[in-house]
Amino acid sequence: MDKIQINGGRKLEGEVAISGAKNAALPLIASAILVDGTCEFNNVPHLMDISSIRLLLEDLGAKCFFEDHVMTVDGSGINKIEAEYDLVRKMRASILVLGPLLARFGHAKVSLPGGCAIGARPVNMHLSGLAALGANIHIDQGYIEARAEKLTGSEIYFDIPTVTGTENLMMAAVLAKGQTVLRNAAREPEIICLADALNQMGADISGAGSAIIQIQGVDKLRPARITVIPDRIETGTFMVAAAATRGDVRINGCNPDHIGGVISKLKEAGVRIDTRADQIRVRGGDPVKSVDIQTLPYPGFPTDMQAQFMTLMCVAQGTSMIHESIFENRFIHANELMRMGADITLSKTNLAIVKGVPELQAAPVMASDLRASASLVIAGLMAKGTTVISRVYHMDRGYEAIEEKFSVLGADMVRIK
Ligand code: EPU
Repeated sequence: MDKIQINGGRKLEGEVAISGAKNAALPLIASAILVDGTCEFNNVPHLMDISSIRLLLEDLGAKCFFEDHVMTVDGSGINKIEAEYDLVRKMRASILVLGPLLARFGHAKVSLPGGCAIGARPVNMHLSGLAALGANIHIDQGYIEARAEKLTGSEIYFDIPTVTGTENLMMAAVLAKGQTVLRNAAREPEIICLADALNQMGADISGAGSAIIQIQGVDKLRPARITVIPDRIETGTFMVAAAATRGDVRINGCNPDHIGGVISKLKEAGVRIDTRADQIRVRGGDPVKSVDIQTLPYPGFPTDMQAQFMTLMCVAQGTSMIHESIFENRFIHANELMRMGADITLSKTNLAIVKGVPELQAAPVMASDLRASASLVIAGLMAKGTTVISRVYHMDRGYEAIEEKFSVLGADMVRIK
């Protein structure tokens, strides 16, 4: 298994380009199932999770071609409605094929995703939403089986805004008979990206980006050419890394509007940030001040940035309260940060109390999930000495060419095969 070795203590300086968003690309690629023809997706990042969804679609009978950040998916040959355990277990987001398979073929069988390191992550709202559209749903031998000759539009209320749940229901409802209204829908930029794409394919969706999404069903979708939005979490990760090393970094090809929560909190911590239409410049200098954060659905502070922000707070002046309110077990990185000298107390109520220390010390550490791995990279960049991070396959799921990008900014970071 690959490891990442970082000789820390260097300021990050220079420019970095942001890749397309993993969490936007995954539902877009799944949406190609709805189309009897070839869709083209641009700005798709080369990542493990993208390979996983591609393999899954190919297993269903789609023809995919992926080169130089452009993926084409021809869904005309899809002849299988079953997403097998061996493919789904590698990536929970495989659940995104459930809605489109059911909408197009009236039948779908998808392995039920298990929990993962950060939480139980049930899919009950995906299933109750599909049932509200008239699907008959059974769980048998670890598989979700959904059937409906024709889905019928309905009112669906989500108890909690769910990102992939909203996406799955949007993709199911586009071909349903009549109108569907999703209430308390997720408002993430990835939802708007998917709704825009589906509308380009001929769907009739309004309200995406707000808590109420209306979908008027249509008979058929047509092929389209779609561009994936920039990755807001990769953007935020580079912002925090620049601040943590007290560097000066221009982050290009991003959308500052999508990462407003992180920008505000970094400014509150004393980091200098200037934004332009598609660029963010981050200048660190003096030690940052401790600030409190609470993770919330968009536009709140993203849970996918909590680990990285915690690393910054480890060396801030004062005490920071970090409240994780989306996932029940997303503090595994805290124990690794403590091995590097951080002073963190974890309470049973998903609260981390982080007392700033003057510096972190290099140490061998282990990544437990995708964003935890990014937090350990940032810790390694700050700490003087050599940090070796193992289990970096987690990072490869969601950060494109990360060692190359950090190396261009002056980091001493190499992959050990
Ligand atoms: N939830 C339920 N029932 C459901 C669905 C969700 O109880 O049927 C709960 C979850 O357990 C969680 C909350 O609702 O407590 C929100 O979860 P959500 O469904 O929004 O998460 P997701 O769709 O599974 C996506 C991202 C995650 C990101 C979360 C939250 C993708 C592919 N994944 O997951 O990304 O953390 O939204 O923003 O879009 C990552 O990229 O590292 C990552 C984990």
